[in-house]
Amino acid sequence: METELNNTAPTRSIEFKRRMIAGLLGYGAGNDKKIQNILADLSLGETNGSRNKSYNGFDMRKLRQALTGASADFPAPVLQVDRPEIMAFFYSKGGVGKTTICANLGVTLAMQGSRVLMIDGDPQASLSTMFDVDVEADIVTFGDAIDTINVSKRRFDLATAVISPVRGIKMDLIPADQRMVRTDIILGSTAYREKAVQKLFSENADFFKTYDFVLIDTAPSVTPLSFSIVAAADRIIAVVELAGMALKATNNLFAMVQELEEGAHRRVPITFVPNGLHGSKRYTADTLEVIRKKFSGKNLVNVSNTVIPEYAGLSRHAKISTNRTLMEAEPTSAAALKMIELAREMEYLAVTDQNVKQEA
Ligand SMILES: Nc1ncnc2c1ncn2[C@@H]1O[C@H](COP(=O)(O)OP(=O)(O)O)[C@@H](O)[C@H]1O
Ligand SMILES: [Mg+2]
Repeated sequence: METELNNTAPTRSIEFKRRMIAGLLGYGAGNDKKIQNILADLSLGETNGSRNKSYNGFDMRKLRQALTGASADFPAPVLQVDRPEIMAFFYSKGGVGKTTICANLGVTLAMQGSRVLMIDGDPQASLSTMFDVDVEADIVTFGDAIDTINVSKRRFDLATAVISPVRGIKMDLIPADQRMVRTDIILGSTAYREKAVQKLFSENADFFKTYDFVLIDTAPSVTPLSFSIVAAADRIIAVVELAGMALKATNNLFAMVQELEEGAHRRVPITFVPNGLHGSKRYTADTLEVIRKKFSGKNLVNVSNTVIPEYAGLSRHAKISTNRTLMEAEPTSAAALKMIELAREMEYLAVTDQNVKQEA
């Protein structure tokens, strides 16, 4: 069934220009010329009829690998680990932009040359839908993986559930569908429910070694499944909408982290990502200020420096055209540039988390 899925998986092209590459690498567009020389030296890219070359995520990876050793002023960290950074997108409120930012961040990281695995952990399957997966079809989902180890007590090979929805980058997806509601209910009556996802991941350690990042989208509530996902994560990414009531849901978030700390003796760090800043909506800036004040100086909690603006393109590209993410459709828009900034920040956080893990 998985081969059938792979064959029917939609492919879209990720192609970008030198100027874009400079931005993705963190050199800024001003260093265009420098990038041009490095690209030529490495003979990367593909000539597409004209004199212009197009580049993809795999070129970016080669470029970054070469640069890490070759250039002392390389601005972006590259993960050098044998285990990916696992980031769970969790916030106990819907409609705040979790899925949108998770999807665009995944594509952006992959465009920068990281190897990314996306997991749809929400029975609503909006992440899967965003990547054109037909969730009505007979597909292998993350829920099937959990049911197999939890109910059938057998090993599940995660590689069999993977599809690659975007051509030209290493970004794989394990989808979800409505059946996962049942997975969640069964998980709720299982002893050690918080260990289920951890167990699935550690049984697939070799598969995980092939990725730098694992981004998991979750349902907007504290369910056994989202709890188990967060328990297996290195970091929680809490997308917080810059609107009234934004902070109410943080109580649930901290309560969950506390419960995890008591049960699993591990404190999961949280990064808040503010979403929806709008120049002429004063309350968005005010809310941002409140958030920064509230969480500054808190142990293992931070607010990302990057603030995602309200931008119609983010919702527009979730619905029409074959480019379902902003990063695919408008990689040079102002909002996409913010996504690049966020990806850079996430890479730094990942390096920090990996260092902590090594010391432990
Ligand atoms: N920064 C933004 N600017 C404009 N629209 C946004 C932005 N972030 C999210 N949206 C839109 O808001 C809606 C809810 O976002 P979604 O990612 O599905 O939230 P969640 O996963 O938290 O439920 C979607 O229609 C999405 O396109
Ligand atoms: Mg969602």
